[in-house]
Amino acid sequence: MTEQKTYQGADWNGQSGEYWVANQARLDAMFAVFGQAAIEAAAPATGERVLDVGCGAGASSLALAARVGAGGHVLGVDISEPLIGRARELAPQDTPVLFQVADASNAELPEGAFDMLFSRFGVMFFDDPTGAFTHMRRALRPGGRVAFICWRGVAENDWVRLPMGAIQGIVPLTAPPDPEAPGPFSFADRGRVTRILTAAGFTDVTFAPFDVSIPFGEGETRDAAIDDAVRMAFEGGPLSLVLAQQSDDIRTQASAAVRAAFAGLPGERSVMIDGAAWIVTARNPAASAC
Ligand SMILES: C[S@@+](CC[C@H](N)C(=O)[O-])C[C@H]1O[C@@H](n2cnc3c(N)ncnc32)[C@H](O)[C@@H]1O
Repeated sequence: MTEQKTYQGADWNGQSGEYWVANQARLDAMFAVFGQAAIEAAAPATGERVLDVGCGAGASSLALAARVGAGGHVLGVDISEPLIGRARELAPQDTPVLFQVADASNAELPEGAFDMLFSRFGVMFFDDPTGAFTHMRRALRPGGRVAFICWRGVAENDWVRLPMGAIQGIVPLTAPPDPEAPGPFSFADRGRVTRILTAAGFTDVTFAPFDVSIPFGEGETRDAAIDDAVRMAFEGGPLSLVLAQQSDDIRTQASAAVRAAFAGLPGERSVMIDGAAWIVTARNPAASAC
């Protein structure tokens, strides 16, 4: 495996990458509705060439490939070797898609080769987002477009807000994370995202809120579904980071508290939790300033 120079590179080739590969089918089922909404906003046309940024196990790349058809092309890039490995396994033959392990912020990409940059939750992890979008814009043809979906803030995303709230008083307090640090919520502020995209040379930046209830836990019974939701929260995402260094005793107490919080949510053989995202679109000016 390639040596990773950044925290994000190491994490997506380590703990987070393993979590996403192990739970790929579950996570794809949870995120399908978000990806579909972003693809509708992106409106890929037959024959178009699309760069899917942070493509993970490739579900959105395959959905885009189905839309652009045999005359089009999708390149899915991701910094995670295990996730690109899974994407290659899942891709049917004869699909116009190629997967590549690459850091999208500095990878060699053919200039002006794509009609669209797309991402399903894969653009919030750059150390220098303006630099990354400036670099990726060069791969877009003049007049091309960008469309991605990213999370809004924690306060609006109950899949994080509820478990984080439940462990307060159990886990020792730490300083709140920098809201602009690379991570799932770093694009929550539309003012910041507008500044990043504008500084990177894009115009016509738009935001559409997308809110949906996510099947966060699933199981044969309601109890099994709640256990599954607790496991998903403990093994991946922000809660797993907060609990990583805690004692078994604290983890046991935290687990009971999170379980109680999830037990109050709707669902029969599932635990349905609210998720809130932005669908962001922007345009590469026709007379490219590259
Ligand atoms: C939340 S996951 C989303 C994966 C996928 N788009 C999906 O919806 O299933 C974020 C993805 O971004 C990738 N990523 C993070 N930083 C990256 C970078 N600099 N270049 C390319 N991919 C990156 C991660 O490896 C991970 O697969």
